[in-house]
Amino acid sequence: MQRFEAYLQANLPNVETFHPHYNDALSAMLKAGGKRFRPMLLLSVVEAYEPLLFESALAPALALELLHTYSLIHDDLPAMDDAPLRRGFETLHVTYDDATAVLIGDALNTEAFYHLSMAALRDDIKIKLVELLARDGGTYGMVLGQSIDLQFENTPLTLEQVKVLHTNKTAKLIATSLLMGAVIVGLDKAKQEALYAFGIDLGLLFQIQDDIIDETHTEEEAGKTTGNDGDKNSFVNLIGLERTIEEAEVLAKHLEYEFSKFDEVLQNGLRDIINKYLYRHR
Ligand code: IPE
Ligand code: IPE
Ligand code: MG
Ligand code: MG
Ligand code: MG
Repeated sequence: MQRFEAYLQANLPNVETFHPHYNDALSAMLKAGGKRFRPMLLLSVVEAYEPLLFESALAPALALELLHTYSLIHDDLPAMDDAPLRRGFETLHVTYDDATAVLIGDALNTEAFYHLSMAALRDDIKIKLVELLARDGGTYGMVLGQSIDLQFENTPLTLEQVKVLHTNKTAKLIATSLLMGAVIVGLDKAKQEALYAFGIDLGLLFQIQDDIIDETHTEEEAGKTTGNDGDKNSFVNLIGLERTIEEAEVLAKHLEYEFSKFDEVLQNGLRDIINKYLYRHR
């Protein structure tokens, strides 16, 4: 975590320009913090199997955080969730304006692929990482999920459809974080697929817990706008808080079981990060 944080600080986008706030706005949300969950997943897989590749894996880990941060900046815009607080700070569209938030999001999205392209990894591996991040963080994943999320505000979906929503908007990027780690260390196809499937369930749990947080946490506790899901197809709105917590518990138990089937080195590498978030709904 400290090594990633130092790498992020040293590699913040930095542009010299006469624009009064472009450069500050570029790094504001990255500096603001966050759990760094996705980079930690990638780096934990790499550290478990090939610690010598850790250094080279920092660029793809940063790419994940850049793309994720862009998704949050856009998610908070008035046209989307209209949220004034993120990572303990005022959101960019509040500090500056909507155009700045849109453009800084665009910049961080492309910056992610810039860092991937510059990583000290084999070209074929980098192309695979670009493919995975573009697929799950874009058209076939996060963007589709966000689009469903917003299209169906105030229109109840079935629980199965909400799982599709959550899988796309959140779980695929989390699953791909594990998979990118697996690609970097060269795990075989079967192990890659097992990690990705685990990541989808982990990401689904992560978003269900996020729905719980919106209901149960104050803005100070969450560091972001809460009580904001009134119009959403969240688990809490569909089945109530109590049953949502039960669902989370069942999913967490299932994940623990799947986790126990992983290689011992992988379990050792992932245990801390997984344990930190598996039961955060309690
Ligand atoms: C928030 O993501 C949006 C979701 C996909 C649930 P995180 O909960 O990972 O936010 P940060 O990165 O810690 O700010
Ligand atoms: C957003 O989900 C998921 C993204 C892809 C950004 P939410 O809208 O629930 O995230 P928060 O609660 O604002 O962090
Ligand atoms: Mg949203
Ligand atoms: Mg939101
Ligand atoms: Mg939320």
